Amino acid sequence: MKIVRTIDELKQAVNARRSEGPVGFVPTMGALHEGHASLIERCRRENATAVVSIFVNPTQFNDKNDLKNYPRTEAADCALLETEQVDIAFIPSTEEIYPEPDTRVFRFGPLEQAMEGEHRPGHFNGVAQIVSKLFSYVMPDKAYFGEKDFQQIAIIKEMVRQLALSVTIVECPIKRAEDGLALSSRNTLLTPEQRAIAPVIYMTLKEAVARKAWSGVEEVQKWVVEQIDSNQAMKTEYFKIVNADTLQDASSWDEPGTKRGCIAVKVGDIRLIDNIKF
Ligand code: PAF
Repeated sequence: MKIVRTIDELKQAVNARRSEGPVGFVPTMGALHEGHASLIERCRRENATAVVSIFVNPTQFNDKNDLKNYPRTEAADCALLETEQVDIAFIPSTEEIYPEPDTRVFRFGPLEQAMEGEHRPGHFNGVAQIVSKLFSYVMPDKAYFGEKDFQQIAIIKEMVRQLALSVTIVECPIKRAEDGLALSSRNTLLTPEQRAIAPVIYMTLKEAVARKAWSGVEEVQKWVVEQIDSNQAMKTEYFKIVNADTLQDASSWDEPGTKRGCIAVKVGDIRLIDNIKF
């Protein structure tokens, strides 16, 4: 595996391999876990070259403490990337990516107005800034994203459409711990007590899906929030059942289109997100 830290080195390393076949790309913020490993495995299977980036992108954090506390585990991450037989790891500094502030403003309309967009102002603009930069350096044929960040995938697909990029966005299923908790780099920040209670999120989502048989959309939404918030250590930021394509609120099960239930919960100071297909 080649570790590169500058954009020039990255471009050279990717271009030296481009004639061998498709280039696959997995952008990450490090603190890699089995969820990332599953994206990388798929990327490895489907491409001649697998590129992974590790960069904790400051412009997508609306909370300074969240950025400061975000786990950084470069040595362990590199070991995982070696095991997964990644060809190129791009691990740049903040100065390399942002030698000057990125003032670009993306507009994603209704896709960014609810859920994460509403609760984390500026977050998706930062995601679009970094992902568009990374795509322009790597120029991948395919890029891999986990469905845990369901709204992020919709935003990135819209960005790709707006910029007319030729990369295919591959959506990969959520990886869960045995007790159902969606794998996330933030899970390592939970105390043992918080970690023990966190699987309630997925348990509640699963039960909510069953309730669809006898309850309306609003009733299910209300029930989920009540269930989660009945645990002292947890507070629901939002739970929304939305149309999976438009991300607009669903008002009844009979409306056309697949529905997705998306949730953000604060467990102490740690913010966890998850989602489930209805
Ligand atoms: O999902 C993430 O880890 C980040 O939002 C991403 C896509 C790597 C951009 O920083």
